Amino acid sequence: MSDMGFEVDDPELTRNPQAMYKIVRDTMPVMDVDLENRAMKVVSRHEDVIAVLRDPETFSSGVDAVEIGQIRPLIPLQIDPPEHAKYRKLLDPLFAPKRIALLEPATRALVDDLIDQVVDDGQCNFHAAIAEPLPSTVFLQLLGLPVERTQEFIELKDGIIRPPATSPEERSEMVKETGRRIYAVLEEVIAERQHERREDFISQFLDAEVDGHRLTPEDVQDIGYLFFLAGLDTVTASLDCMLAFLSQHPEHRRRLVDDPDLIPHAIEEMLRWETPVTGVVRITTTDTEIGGCPVAAHTAVSTMLGSANTDESVWPEVDTVDFDREVNKHIAFGGGVHRCLGSHLARMELRVTLEAWHERIPDYQLAEGAELVYSMGLRQVDELPLVWNH
Ligand code: HEM
Repeated sequence: MSDMGFEVDDPELTRNPQAMYKIVRDTMPVMDVDLENRAMKVVSRHEDVIAVLRDPETFSSGVDAVEIGQIRPLIPLQIDPPEHAKYRKLLDPLFAPKRIALLEPATRALVDDLIDQVVDDGQCNFHAAIAEPLPSTVFLQLLGLPVERTQEFIELKDGIIRPPATSPEERSEMVKETGRRIYAVLEEVIAERQHERREDFISQFLDAEVDGHRLTPEDVQDIGYLFFLAGLDTVTASLDCMLAFLSQHPEHRRRLVDDPDLIPHAIEEMLRWETPVTGVVRITTTDTEIGGCPVAAHTAVSTMLGSANTDESVWPEVDTVDFDREVNKHIAFGGGVHRCLGSHLARMELRVTLEAWHERIPDYQLAEGAELVYSMGLRQVDELPLVWNH
């Protein structure tokens, strides 16, 4: 039991974390936590979270912030300003809405294929049937990694994000080993593209220039490594959270079926309410303070995006999931200079999937008796049993 009156390992906390976020904000807005032998400050008020994200000089995203098997800083996530801007200048155009729109027909075809495989069964595990294969396939195609190796890539990504380890030491070893395998795959593909370009991101990276400098094959590897992790899991977790919500809220689901134009608004509101990526970490570069609380140099600071997105000081009717909300400046994609590069791609994948699903399977619900288990950090739901009449 924590000092704040909730069981830390209660599955309800990850299933419906909003009540816990409120308790944390109200009682310990800057909280000391020991996570796998790592002391960190956890920041939960919207105002403080924004202040941290908007001050990269004091709160660095450098390579110590998160350990995900990398041997060099991931580009652009672990590069601080001013260096960071030159990579974003190069990468932003590749992810601009017009470029992403070109991918929509192929994405819709892929979603339709995946739905074809389950529609007549009247039931599926949404996570395994749609949420996991869809973003993986879209993303591997985009990056130019071999799609026939999707399952292998999903396993590699899971080996970094949720290794089946029993201790922090074992976890660290497993993550490093998986990291070595990811670097090896990228090295192999980059070498092939150096020899012969194709219509894919890796080829474009090899030809790209930042301020007159070309990216080195190592830079391309460091970008690819990050994309590999950022592009596969986040969309999967978001789809899981959204279908879990809609399958348990028939009145919200009905509105999307009756008026598909509402889907983009619904996506923003569910991103706010569910916040599938619950937090991001920074390291202080100097002695500082957050919300009046002193924080020493070299301290890890975790910002609770989910809490900021449900902070009653910012949103009217904060606990109502309102698909008609007019202003919705949620920070589910982060904030400040490192705000998500892939947000337009993510939004397109989410919209196309919700449109196709509700068009073809409008009347679905969560299977009776299902107890959903959400993973920590990234709110993925491995078993999401949905049922419908067919
Ligand atoms: C709904 C799905 C997604 C969510 C919720 C999400 C969330 C986030 C968040 C919270 C950050 C900020 C990290 C930080 O400040 O430390 C971020 C950064 C990033 N995301 Fe996403 N993301 C999603 C999809 C994607 C996709 C599909 C890509 C594909 C490339 C992507 C690529 C990136 C990259 C490259 C960064 C680092 C940007 C930088 O450091 O300048 N994300 N994302």
